[in-house]
Amino acid sequence: MLVLGIETSCDETGVALYDGERGLLGHALYSQVELHAQYGGVVPELASRDHVSRLLPLISQVFDKSGISGADVDGVAYTAGPGLVGALLVGAAAGRSLAWSWGVPAVAVHHMEGHLLAPMLEAEPPDFPFLALLVSGGHSLLVEVQGVGGYRVLGDSIDDAVGEAFDKTATVLGLSYPGGPALAALAREGDPGRYHFPRPMTDRPGLDFSFSGLKTFALNTWTGCGQTQQDRADIARAFEEAVVDTMAIKCRRALEQTGLATLVVAGGVGANRRLRERLGVLMEQRGGRVCYPRPEFCTDNGAMIAYAGHCRLQAGQAESLSIRATPRWSLEELVPV
Ligand code: KG4
Ligand code: ZN
Repeated sequence: MLVLGIETSCDETGVALYDGERGLLGHALYSQVELHAQYGGVVPELASRDHVSRLLPLISQVFDKSGISGADVDGVAYTAGPGLVGALLVGAAAGRSLAWSWGVPAVAVHHMEGHLLAPMLEAEPPDFPFLALLVSGGHSLLVEVQGVGGYRVLGDSIDDAVGEAFDKTATVLGLSYPGGPALAALAREGDPGRYHFPRPMTDRPGLDFSFSGLKTFALNTWTGCGQTQQDRADIARAFEEAVVDTMAIKCRRALEQTGLATLVVAGGVGANRRLRERLGVLMEQRGGRVCYPRPEFCTDNGAMIAYAGHCRLQAGQAESLSIRATPRWSLEELVPV
C-alpha cells in the first residue's frame, strides 16, 4: 500500500511517500523558519498562507523525484492535529481533496503519534512496548506505548513545553529564533561549574514537567550578571544541564514504574546532543536500549505522517469525506490498530 503523507501543523510543510513493502520512496520539507524569524516566533496567519503556496508544488516535487503519479497512490494521510488550526486546515483540505479525486481513502493523523512512530522508519526499529519521551516546541510528554494507537500518557508539561523553554531562554540571551539549536551550541562553550539551576518537580513524585520557572531563573541570572559572552554561554550551559537532567530523572522514574526496557526519544528537542548523551548513559546502566529517528525526522516532517497513516489505513481505518482539523487532541483518544 502506497501512502502520501502531508504535514502542515505548524511552520514546516512536509510531504512523503511511504510504501508498506518498499519503505520510504521520497520526502521533502519546506521550513518557514526565515519567514517567522523577524517576529521572534510563529505567526499563525502567515504560516497558513505559506502552506497554501508551498504544499502543492512540494507534492509535485516528491512525485516527480520518485517517478510516482497520483494514480499509484492507495491512500492519503494528513496531520489533523494538534497544531495551529489554520495551518492544519491547509493540509487537511488538500489531503482530503486529493484522496477524493483519486478515489482512495484518507486518514487523519495525530501529529504526536507521527513523532513517536518516527523511529519505525529506521533500520533497527524499536519493538513494542516502549516508553516514549516526546519533546518538541509544543509538547513534553512521557507515553507508555503498547502498540500503534495504544498510548497511556504518564507525564505532560503543566506550562511551557521543553522546546518552548529552550526558545524563550534563547530569546532572553539574545539569540535568534528558533533558539533551541543556537542555545545548545552556545552551551558547549559554557563552564558547567559556574551556575546551578533547579531541576523542576523532581523533588516530588510524579512524571509531569514544568519548565517555565527555568526560563525565569535564566532571565534573573542574566539581568544580575555582567552580560559578557562568557556569562551568556555559562547560563546556556546551566539551563541545558537542568533541562536534560530533569528529563533523565523523569525517564528513569517512568522506566522503573512501567518496567519497560526500551526508550524512544522523538520531537525537535530529541536532536539535542547533551540529552542524547545523558539518555545513552541511563539506558546503558539499565541494560536497555534508546532509539531515535534520524535527525531530520526528529523535527516535523511528512515521512512520520505517511508512516503513521499507513499503519491505520492498512488496518482499514479511514475518515469520512469531511475535512478534519482538531487543534487540541489527546493521544489517549486514539483508537488502537
Ligand atoms: O518537533 P519540532 O520540529 O516542532 C514541534 O512540533 O514543535 O520541534 C521544534 C523545537 C523547537 O522549540 C526547537 O528550538 C527545538 O525543537 N530544538 C532543539 C534542538 N533542535 C531543535 N532544542 C534543543 N536542542 C536542540 N539541538
Ligand atoms: Zn512536531
